Amino acid sequence: MTGHVQAVKSWLGQVLDGGASASGSLAYRNNRKAIWRGDIPEKYARLVDLVPGQRVMELGAAEGVLSLLLAQKKEKVFALELKGERHEEAQRLKASWQDRGLDVGRCEMVLGNIKQQLHLLRAVDTLLAVRSIYYLRTDLAGVFDAVSRHVPNVVLCGNRNRARKYVESHGNPDDPLGKNNYFATLEGMTSLLEGCGYAIVNSIAEGDPIVIGAKRISPAN
Ligand SMILES: C[S@@+](CC[C@H](N)C(=O)[O-])C[C@H]1O[C@@H](n2cnc3c(N)ncnc32)[C@H](O)[C@@H]1O
Repeated sequence: MTGHVQAVKSWLGQVLDGGASASGSLAYRNNRKAIWRGDIPEKYARLVDLVPGQRVMELGAAEGVLSLLLAQKKEKVFALELKGERHEEAQRLKASWQDRGLDVGRCEMVLGNIKQQLHLLRAVDTLLAVRSIYYLRTDLAGVFDAVSRHVPNVVLCGNRNRARKYVESHGNPDDPLGKNNYFATLEGMTSLLEGCGYAIVNSIAEGDPIVIGAKRISPAN
């Protein structure tokens, strides 16, 4: 692929994800001051009470807002993020919330790629991924094979823009161009989880779609 085509694809991905960029998602940048004060946009707040379990790993945690919210109610939250600058912003946000007296000490910001962090799956009972699984592309099946062996609860939140794009352009999960956006749709996330042996315990079609799966994990795993 030429550099130009790659740049256009990257720009398109950023637009579909609501303006995600090296300096943070649009939702974060537009609300940064409010978030630092503890005034949380609905995008994150709507998910907090839906997340089961006491030990959570958030895949693609970006600036850590959702993980920090959850950590105040959970035993442990790992906020895993691939990009250094987002991870660093997440650490700054955590420190600022701690200065304000918020109980976010149980949130651990982890810099890395899920592919090298699969061992963390053994330490949690819930995997949470918001607008992130479609970035895994050819690694998706392998990562979810590991998730399904170790993690009893999975919360997936997709992306309404990518879901619309998927329906408009292809609507065929076997089409290479539509494949990644399929996993931003309710149908794609449901099929991924059911294919890994999860029962769907909750599913919300409005806004960014949300699918929650649960399965019994054998202690031998
Ligand atoms: C579109 S952003 C969504 C961020 C955040 N969850 C939200 O909804 O605002 C996707 C995030 O996933 C991260 N990511 C992508 N692939 C990853 C991987 N293999 N391991 C860890 N994080 C990853 C990206 O760096 C990016 O911050």
